[in-house]
Amino acid sequence: MTHPTRNPDALSAFNAYEPAYVSLETDEDGVIPESLAATLASGGVKFIYLAPTLQNPTGRTIPLDRRKEIARIIQRHDALLVEDDPYGALRYRGEDLPPIQTFAPENVVYASTLSKVFAPGLRIGFCTAPEAIRRWLVRVKQGTDLHTSTFNQALAAEYLSGGHLQRRLPKILDLYRPRQAAMLDALDRYFPKTFRWSRPDGGMFIWVEGPRGMDMAWVYRAAVERNVAFVPGKFFYAREGKGIETMRLNFTMAGEAALDDAVRTLASAVSACSRGREEDRRRNPASWAA
Ligand SMILES: Cc1ncc(COP(=O)(O)O)c(C=O)c1O
Repeated sequence: MTHPTRNPDALSAFNAYEPAYVSLETDEDGVIPESLAATLASGGVKFIYLAPTLQNPTGRTIPLDRRKEIARIIQRHDALLVEDDPYGALRYRGEDLPPIQTFAPENVVYASTLSKVFAPGLRIGFCTAPEAIRRWLVRVKQGTDLHTSTFNQALAAEYLSGGHLQRRLPKILDLYRPRQAAMLDALDRYFPKTFRWSRPDGGMFIWVEGPRGMDMAWVYRAAVERNVAFVPGKFFYAREGKGIETMRLNFTMAGEAALDDAVRTLASAVSACSRGREEDRRRNPASWAA
């Protein structure tokens, strides 16, 4: 089964250049190395984009051995990987893992952000890159916006050097960890057994897969009528028609009681859509037979 390996923001950033996307095969441990090797062997790949740690939208993390294997493959093909890591600091369980960049520094541009651990409105991110690419990135950035707001950079510098991140991060984790647990409990309690969902070690999201053919765009409409929203998973796929039965739930923005209510409400939207589908199937058997 193919799972998403990208997020809508990255897709919209890439779309401006009208790329031809090639989706990699993934499993519960992220991208499958053989799929990466085969894609690179077929040639013509400008770069690979991965979010290997607590990925948006699935919450998956690529384990250590697979990271090393991916590093070996990109080195063998002299390929370039963009390693996007906005969620690595939001780990509630388990060990931190080294970025893939550690194992192939000359083949990886590693990028992260202060958006998840300070403030998204600051628009401060950072990257490390092989020297030749770093020089180009500086030029392109200057050509794009001259420079990032110096006021915002000063705030970020104080946040980092003044020890604020170290003090705040445990508080952020203590806030989000029980929210994730509450959402997972509520899914166990209210969602039909025909659904599956991820149990990530951190991040902001839970990835839910419904039964084949259930279009989450219908569920979305029914949920919004009930004042609950989520992101239909199809927006995380490069190819149209993929992931219609999936959804991404965010657990960071509400308290535990509200999350329990929201998931119960979402489950009622799901059952309303399932009933609607069954009724339609009974009334129009011919259109369902196709
Ligand atoms: C996969 C991924 N990459 C990068 C980002 C970067 O966010 P920002 O542009 O706020 O630094 C996000 C945040 O939503 C994300 O989900």
